[in-house]
Amino acid sequence: MSASKGVMACSKTQSTRLMNMRPAHIILAISDLDHKIVLHRAKYLLEGCDWLSAKTELILEEILIRRSGRAFSNQSVPDEMLESILEAGRRAPSCANTQAWNFIVLKNKDVLEMAHEALSRGNSWGKRAPIMLIVAAREDGGCSSHGLPYFMMDVGLATENILLQAFHLGLLAHPTAGWNEEKLKDITGIPQEYRIVTVIFIGYEGDIEELDERNREKEKTPSTRRPLSEIVHWDKW
Ligand SMILES: Cc1cc2nc3c(=O)[nH]c(=O)nc-3n(C[C@H](O)[C@H](O)[C@H](O)COP(=O)(O)O)c2cc1C
Repeated sequence: MSASKGVMACSKTQSTRLMNMRPAHIILAISDLDHKIVLHRAKYLLEGCDWLSAKTELILEEILIRRSGRAFSNQSVPDEMLESILEAGRRAPSCANTQAWNFIVLKNKDVLEMAHEALSRGNSWGKRAPIMLIVAAREDGGCSSHGLPYFMMDVGLATENILLQAFHLGLLAHPTAGWNEEKLKDITGIPQEYRIVTVIFIGYEGDIEELDERNREKEKTPSTRRPLSEIVHWDKW
């Protein structure tokens, strides 16, 4: 990761302070792993930089502009990037900290080629992505409150963290449901009692013109959402 990631994490007026930080400080500021996160906050505050609001601003912007892109290049993704993406997934909240998620990373060319056979026709754009990240969980792997399948929520939260971290690193990440679960299990050896909940394609952005016409059109269509007025209820439904 470059030092500029640390600079980006601060608002404009504060970023010059970060630029003046000694390299050791910047390393602390950019390696968001394990308990070092506490040190980052302390360091930002010491430098007069409001870490929390700077971070919130940045994440909000990334949530807003993230897209599930389909135009992948076949350029390989460095392992450090992949590790930080997996770390972001691992950091997700889960019901009673059950952490139902399991991540199966496919990056070997032969394995990927076999896995491509399991994709639905509509998802053949995924064949260009250098990484297929399978997220699997046991149906009884989450907490059992309300009789709800909370393992799905654990996986969903981990998946969003993964999508956002990949986007933050300048990569495309696209979650999918269009594949044959049994075939993927056969290829990867995922035990029968686990369910594959999603397959996330990850890679650098490629040339949109290399997609077929249908997918090219999808890429050009804005990603809309239901308005808040339709989905938010204040105090009463
Ligand atoms: C559970 C899930 C399954 C999805 N399955 C597919 C899929 O099989 N193929 C595909 O092209 N996109 C798939 N998507 C991506 C959605 O179509 C996409 O997130 C949605 O249209 C909103 O677009 P955006 O993520 O670019 O904002 C899936 C997304 C989720 C969360």
